[in-house]
Amino acid sequence: MLENLTQQPPDKIIMLSGMFRADERPEKIDLGVGVYKDANGNTPIMRAVKKAEQLLWDAETTKSYTALIGDGGFHKVMADLVLGDTVAAERLSFAHAPGGTGAIRQILELIKVASPHATIWMSDPTWPNHPAMVKGVGIPMKTYAYLDDETRTVDFAGMMADLGQVNAGDVVILHGCCHNPTGANLNQTQWQQVADLLLERGAIPFVDIAYQGFGDGLVADAYGVRLLAQKFPELLISASCSKNFGIYRERCGLVIAVSKDAAGSALTQGMLSSLNRLNFSFPPDHGARLVTMVLNDPELRADWEAELEEVRNSMLGLRQKLADALRTETGSDRYGFIAEHRGMFSRLGLSEEQVAKLREDHAIYMIGDSRFNVAGLSDKVIPILAKAIVAVGG
Ligand code: LMR
Repeated sequence: MLENLTQQPPDKIIMLSGMFRADERPEKIDLGVGVYKDANGNTPIMRAVKKAEQLLWDAETTKSYTALIGDGGFHKVMADLVLGDTVAAERLSFAHAPGGTGAIRQILELIKVASPHATIWMSDPTWPNHPAMVKGVGIPMKTYAYLDDETRTVDFAGMMADLGQVNAGDVVILHGCCHNPTGANLNQTQWQQVADLLLERGAIPFVDIAYQGFGDGLVADAYGVRLLAQKFPELLISASCSKNFGIYRERCGLVIAVSKDAAGSALTQGMLSSLNRLNFSFPPDHGARLVTMVLNDPELRADWEAELEEVRNSMLGLRQKLADALRTETGSDRYGFIAEHRGMFSRLGLSEEQVAKLREDHAIYMIGDSRFNVAGLSDKVIPILAKAIVAVGG
């Protein structure tokens, strides 16, 4: 049986991590996978998270199962973090899943059951696991234009033209903030226009929010998802705690579904619960418990928000320094967009060949589409990278 299996295409991001690990050059630079790193290249446990872990170690008395959909306290703090008070609690249903990816998978399965003929739309480009998972679940997909290659800003006219083709009942994936891989984001007016168009088309938005707090701040980054929550009868959200709580390996993600009314929400809740049971039964608990403790404790929460702000500001500073270094190296402002973008990534606009040369000749690793992880930069790395980009003809 197993010999019938076919070779699967590798995930570009995970494959690059493996190549980086195997590279023995001591000067190698990792700008690949989206994991936050401090100035020393470490991915620290956030102070408030560590403190919560210590408290939990003392307080936890059992490792018995929680609920199939995870703990209600976790749902409540996350609904508050993502949606604020934009939606009545009776319209919400939840499923805690292993990571943001797990939450996306559960939502895709929910769509497949609820609306077998729907098409899913996603930005071109998007996080490579979006199309891979949609294909895996077997849902037809289409793309909408997103990036203007010249200006490196959102190709808003192209996006609106494509979204104008969406049929009633289709699902449209939108990045809540910090678009991955481009770093180019919708402004508030554009969010409003997208919302109005999708309402008119009868589409159901699906917001993937994996970097809340990494762009312009916790509330500013939730602008789009909160706007949609106020306007749409139905909305699907996958939220990840990997990045903003730095608990990558705890696999802490959440499905938040907004239904038309309480009856719709009860139905959705039942299906989400069943999908969790069918796929993995109970979700992992540790990360969710830490998040709940941090968000419910005023002191821990203040410290977490302060550290998240430090992380965000450090990435903004690194963006500015790289844009400045490239202005000096190239004598032009063509990389000025790096300072304007938000979140963990930007795409430089280099060719696959140039990216390969960066890797082979300079031991600099970034994704083949020239997406780089801003947090992988440092005062030491920036001048080396700027020179190398010019050396490969960028
Ligand atoms: C990324 O895009 O690098 C992150 O979201 C990590 C991942 O799982 O791909």
